Amino acid sequence: MALELTEDEKQLVATAQKIRKRAWARYSGMQVGAAVLTGGGKIYPGVNVESGSYGLTVCAERVAVFNAVTAGDKDLVAVAVASPDERIWYPCGACRQVLADFSPNMVVIGIDTTGRMIKTDMRTLLPDRFVLDAPGE
Ligand code: THU
Repeated sequence: MALELTEDEKQLVATAQKIRKRAWARYSGMQVGAAVLTGGGKIYPGVNVESGSYGLTVCAERVAVFNAVTAGDKDLVAVAVASPDERIWYPCGACRQVLADFSPNMVVIGIDTTGRMIKTDMRTLLPDRFVLDAPGE
Protein backbone atom coordinates (compact mmCIF):
# COMPACT_ATOMS: atom_id res chain seq x y z
CA MET A 1 0.00 0.00 0.00
CA ALA A 2 1.33 3.45 -0.88
CA LEU A 3 2.25 5.78 1.97
CA GLU A 4 -0.09 8.63 2.77
CA LEU A 5 1.83 11.85 2.16
CA THR A 6 0.53 15.42 2.21
CA GLU A 7 1.27 17.62 -0.81
CA ASP A 8 3.97 19.39 1.23
CA GLU A 9 5.52 16.04 2.17
CA LYS A 10 5.56 14.97 -1.49
CA GLN A 11 7.42 18.18 -2.31
CA LEU A 12 9.78 17.52 0.58
CA VAL A 13 10.65 14.07 -0.73
CA ALA A 14 11.12 15.40 -4.27
CA THR A 15 13.49 18.06 -2.94
CA ALA A 16 15.59 15.54 -1.01
CA GLN A 17 15.83 13.32 -4.08
CA LYS A 18 16.71 16.18 -6.39
CA ILE A 19 19.38 17.70 -4.16
CA ARG A 20 21.12 14.40 -3.40
CA LYS A 21 23.54 14.61 -6.32
CA ARG A 22 25.02 17.82 -4.93
CA ALA A 23 26.43 15.91 -1.94
CA TRP A 24 30.17 16.14 -1.47
CA ALA A 25 30.90 12.52 -0.69
CA ARG A 26 34.23 11.78 -2.31
CA TYR A 27 35.39 9.51 0.54
CA SER A 28 32.37 7.28 1.16
CA GLY A 29 30.84 7.67 -2.30
CA MET A 30 27.46 7.82 -0.52
CA GLN A 31 25.51 10.86 -1.66
CA VAL A 32 22.63 11.61 0.69
CA GLY A 33 19.91 14.21 0.16
CA ALA A 34 17.70 15.65 2.87
CA ALA A 35 15.09 18.36 3.23
CA VAL A 36 13.20 19.85 6.15
CA LEU A 37 9.69 21.27 6.03
CA THR A 38 8.55 24.16 8.24
CA GLY A 39 5.13 24.74 9.75
CA GLY A 40 4.72 27.57 7.25
CA GLY A 41 5.30 25.24 4.30
CA LYS A 42 8.86 26.23 3.46
CA ILE A 43 11.39 23.61 2.43
CA TYR A 44 15.15 23.71 3.06
CA PRO A 45 17.50 21.19 1.44
CA GLY A 46 20.73 19.67 2.70
CA VAL A 47 23.39 17.28 1.45
CA ASN A 48 26.19 15.47 3.26
CA VAL A 49 29.53 17.24 3.12
CA GLU A 50 32.58 15.09 3.77
CA SER A 51 36.09 16.10 4.77
CA GLY A 52 39.46 14.47 4.18
CA SER A 53 39.62 14.61 7.97
CA TYR A 54 36.76 12.10 8.04
CA GLY A 55 35.34 12.96 11.44
CA LEU A 56 34.44 16.45 10.28
CA THR A 57 31.82 15.13 7.88
CA VAL A 58 28.33 16.54 8.36
CA CYS A 59 25.25 14.53 7.40
CA ALA A 60 22.62 15.81 4.97
CA GLU A 61 19.98 16.05 7.72
CA ARG A 62 22.01 18.43 9.86
CA VAL A 63 22.92 20.57 6.85
CA ALA A 64 19.19 20.90 6.08
CA VAL A 65 18.47 21.95 9.67
CA PHE A 66 21.34 24.45 9.59
CA ASN A 67 20.00 25.87 6.34
CA ALA A 68 16.56 26.41 7.89
CA VAL A 69 17.98 27.99 11.03
CA THR A 70 20.23 30.25 8.95
CA ALA A 71 17.15 31.45 7.06
CA GLY A 72 15.40 32.18 10.37
CA ASP A 73 13.13 29.10 10.50
CA LYS A 74 13.14 26.75 13.49
CA ASP A 75 9.61 25.35 13.36
CA LEU A 76 10.45 22.10 11.59
CA VAL A 77 7.56 19.70 11.08
CA ALA A 78 9.07 17.04 8.82
CA VAL A 79 12.33 15.78 7.37
CA ALA A 80 12.89 13.61 4.29
CA VAL A 81 16.04 11.60 3.65
CA ALA A 82 16.89 10.29 0.18
CA SER A 83 19.36 7.44 0.51
CA PRO A 84 22.07 6.56 -2.00
CA ASP A 85 21.19 2.88 -2.28
CA GLU A 86 18.37 0.35 -2.04
CA ARG A 87 18.04 0.67 1.71
CA ILE A 88 16.21 3.27 3.76
CA TRP A 89 18.73 5.45 5.61
CA TYR A 90 17.33 6.50 8.95
CA PRO A 91 18.95 9.61 10.49
CA CYS A 92 22.04 8.74 12.53
CA GLY A 93 22.06 9.23 16.29
CA ALA A 94 23.77 12.61 16.13
CA CYS A 95 21.23 13.92 13.61
CA ARG A 96 18.33 12.57 15.65
CA GLN A 97 19.44 14.69 18.58
CA VAL A 98 19.81 17.83 16.46
CA LEU A 99 16.46 17.28 14.72
CA ALA A 100 14.74 16.60 18.05
CA ASP A 101 16.34 19.69 19.61
CA PHE A 102 14.17 21.73 17.28
CA SER A 103 11.16 19.50 16.79
CA PRO A 104 10.67 16.44 19.01
CA ASN A 105 7.44 15.54 17.16
CA MET A 106 8.59 15.87 13.59
CA VAL A 107 7.62 13.43 10.87
CA VAL A 108 10.53 11.48 9.35
CA ILE A 109 10.27 10.17 5.80
CA GLY A 110 12.88 7.93 4.20
CA ILE A 111 13.09 7.06 0.53
CA ASP A 112 15.52 4.72 -1.21
CA THR A 113 16.72 4.63 -4.81
CA THR A 114 13.96 2.20 -5.79
CA GLY A 115 11.30 4.63 -4.60
CA ARG A 116 10.41 2.64 -1.49
CA MET A 117 9.34 4.93 1.34
CA ILE A 118 8.86 4.78 5.10
CA LYS A 119 7.19 7.31 7.34
CA THR A 120 7.86 7.49 11.06
CA ASP A 121 8.39 10.22 13.64
CA MET A 122 11.05 11.57 15.92
CA ARG A 123 9.34 10.36 19.11
CA THR A 124 9.73 6.82 17.81
CA LEU A 125 13.34 7.31 16.67
CA LEU A 126 14.49 9.21 19.76
CA PRO A 127 12.27 8.83 22.80
CA ASP A 128 13.53 10.59 25.93
CA ARG A 129 15.73 13.01 24.01
CA PHE A 130 18.32 14.98 25.94
CA VAL A 131 17.16 18.55 26.64
CA LEU A 132 19.55 21.18 27.96
CA ASP A 133 17.71 23.53 30.26
CA ALA A 134 19.47 26.59 28.92
CA PRO A 135 18.17 30.14 28.67
CA GLY A 136 16.54 30.72 25.28
CA GLU A 137 17.13 33.55 22.90
N1 THU B 1 25.10 10.28 6.12
C1 THU B 1 24.09 11.18 5.95
O1 THU B 1 24.27 12.22 5.28
N2 THU B 1 22.90 10.91 6.53
C2 THU B 1 22.61 9.78 7.24
O2 THU B 1 21.47 9.61 7.65
C3 THU B 1 23.66 8.82 7.51
C4 THU B 1 24.99 9.09 6.93
C5 THU B 1 26.36 10.50 5.40
C6 THU B 1 27.58 10.73 6.24
C7 THU B 1 28.68 10.27 5.30
O3 THU B 1 29.02 11.34 4.44
C8 THU B 1 28.03 9.17 4.47
O4 THU B 1 26.63 9.37 4.60
C9 THU B 1 28.41 7.78 4.89
O5 THU B 1 28.20 7.58 6.24
